[in-house]
Amino acid sequence: MQPADLDQVRAIELSTSASAWSKQQLQQSLDSGHVLVAENKVLGFAIVATVLDQAELHNIAIDPALQGQGLGRQLLDGMIEQLPAEVKSLYLEVRVSNIAAIRLYQQTGFVQIAERRDYYKTEFGREDALIMGLQTDAAEG
Ligand SMILES: CC(C)(COP(=O)(O)OP(=O)(O)OC[C@H]1O[C@@H](n2cnc3c(N)ncnc32)[C@H](O)[C@@H]1OP(=O)(O)O)[C@@H](O)C(=O)NCCC(=O)NCCS
Repeated sequence: MQPADLDQVRAIELSTSASAWSKQQLQQSLDSGHVLVAENKVLGFAIVATVLDQAELHNIAIDPALQGQGLGRQLLDGMIEQLPAEVKSLYLEVRVSNIAAIRLYQQTGFVQIAERRDYYKTEFGREDALIMGLQTDAAEG
């Protein structure tokens, strides 16, 4: 992710998240950001933080107008391929109601590791989170 991508990334973030990251938060994540780009247009982005042999997916989104065409899968697969070789596992948290994301993660090989009760704040109260993990060395091929 480059500084020039930030405005488009922020626009996608605003249109896909109820608790959107600010431009400043996104700017601070440039080094851990990946973008899917076609003809200079940002189609989606992912932010993944890496510490030693573990990585954590903090954010992923595809432009709403372009969802359901395989781009999320492409972005996630590409990001996993680019993880440093020493990374052995990738973790993430997802709302239990986010069926599209959960299916995408399951298809990619993520498995549920735990559930966090009342983790997310919503309009109607609180919502549980699933913690999912992927062994990245086992996912190759
Ligand atoms: C989650 C997200 C990144 C998926 O991107 P996408 O480009 O729409 O996904 P793809 O077209 O690559 O689909 C990959 C798989 O995800 C699942 N999926 C995608 N959209 C789905 C939907 N509306 N309902 C059910 N499953 C869905 C399917 O398993 C699909 O595979 P299939 O087409 O072979 O069945 C996208 O929906 C998004 O940006 N959501 C808003 C942000 C978000 O919730 N991020 C995750 C936070 S944890």
